[in-house]
Amino acid sequence: MIRTFRWEDYDAVAAVWAAAGADVLPRAELEPKLTRDPELFLVAAPEGIIAGTVLGTWDGRRGWIFRLAVDPAHRRKGIATSLVHELESRFEALGCPRVNLLVLPHNKAGLRFWQELGYLPAPDVLCTKPLRSQPPEK
Ligand SMILES: CC(C)(COP(=O)(O)OP(=O)(O)OC[C@H]1O[C@@H](n2cnc3c(N)ncnc32)[C@H](O)[C@@H]1OP(=O)(O)O)[C@@H](O)C(=O)NCCC(=O)NCCS
Repeated sequence: MIRTFRWEDYDAVAAVWAAAGADVLPRAELEPKLTRDPELFLVAAPEGIIAGTVLGTWDGRRGWIFRLAVDPAHRRKGIATSLVHELESRFEALGCPRVNLLVLPHNKAGLRFWQELGYLPAPDVLCTKPLRSQPPEK
């Protein structure tokens, strides 16, 4: 049920992100990511229908998890848990010792989910800056 993303999945994955209230990553942002560690972008496709997705990245020191989303019609069936467990296995195969992720402060359900899987809040505050030499993000 869990497998690596393929480009023909893009529209269905974008629909899951949109239905889950997550920002839809444009193809142009995914392309450079998929030249690095394509095996860390996963979809859940029970019965061939894409119901969930998660995007992992590996920077050589830490794993990061982004854009976990499950279609509202398929929630509380363990799909997100299966996606994260498969991603963790793939991180471990790369030698990754720790995985980080960010949760928006208002996303109490998301935080409950992550805590259920053993991810504990850390006191760090995200700081971010766009670089002017690059085109603006959409
Ligand atoms: C969070 C999300 C990915 C969970 O997907 P899911 O497939 O329903 O999760 P699972 O079925 O694997 O849930 C595993 C456990 O997490 C906890 N959990 C999941 N959703 C929860 C919710 N809405 N409220 C409280 N706990 C929740 C429960 O303990 C659950 O086990 P249970 O169903 O036996 O009680 C999904 O609700 C979603 O897409 N939300 C919107 C996007 C989002 O918040 N993503 C995370 C961004 S950081």
